[in-house]
Amino acid sequence: MDAPARRLIVALDTIDVGQAQAWSQAVGPHAGLLKLGLEFFAANGPAGVRQVGGAPVFLDLKLHDIPNTVAGAVRAVLPLRPRMLSIHAAGGAAMVQAARQAADAGGTARPIILAVTVLTSLDAAALSATGVAGSPADQVLRLGRLAVESGADGLVCSPHEVAMLRQALGPAVRLVVPGIRPAGAAAGDQARVMTPPEAVAAGADWIVVGRPITQAADPGAAAGAIAAGIA
Ligand code: C5P
Repeated sequence: MDAPARRLIVALDTIDVGQAQAWSQAVGPHAGLLKLGLEFFAANGPAGVRQVGGAPVFLDLKLHDIPNTVAGAVRAVLPLRPRMLSIHAAGGAAMVQAARQAADAGGTARPIILAVTVLTSLDAAALSATGVAGSPADQVLRLGRLAVESGADGLVCSPHEVAMLRQALGPAVRLVVPGIRPAGAAAGDQARVMTPPEAVAAGADWIVVGRPITQAADPGAAAGAIAAGIA
């Protein structure tokens, strides 16, 4: 899989199709991909995704179910031609394999399968309460390795996991990194952040930026400035 020409992914976090279209028009020229998540998909379905043009789509559905059901969901979204699709590594090896096999039916235009390891909303105590004995970092590495060995093309990871995962899993693994803030921007609810150049220097293939762009007075200019900073 080629290295990305445009490393910026803009998260269009809204349930409003018109809003997503407006953001897409403004930021599309600067973005490698536009990320549409579960909220948008639950509200608008495949028809909503088709209405948002402007750049290739990362469909961030974080699928997690029995292998047969995940494979069916992957097949169901293939006609939308998403360039990336996310699943949960915690679904296990067979689930990741099933997702990848289903994606392969898309041929050369198949989506890149990205696995989520440990949700960054889980701290050590919350993770321990789910029955996981090791540290969050251990669990990220364990699940990351499992996902990649099972056919995932890459991982979604926090800025502070990038260097560790790159080192452990090698250059071919695609690392997509949210939790990014331009220097001086409000962190919002993202607790541990990096700037776009820092994340790329740490080994990110793509960075995901949402509110610093979508809530800016001029989203197109904000996206352009970030894209220029990591070109
Ligand atoms: O607005 P902001 O830049 O924080 O948006 C980040 C995007 O990345 C959101 O769509 C969020 O759901 C997603 N995300 C994240 N942290 C993760 C995984 C995904 O913020 N660990």
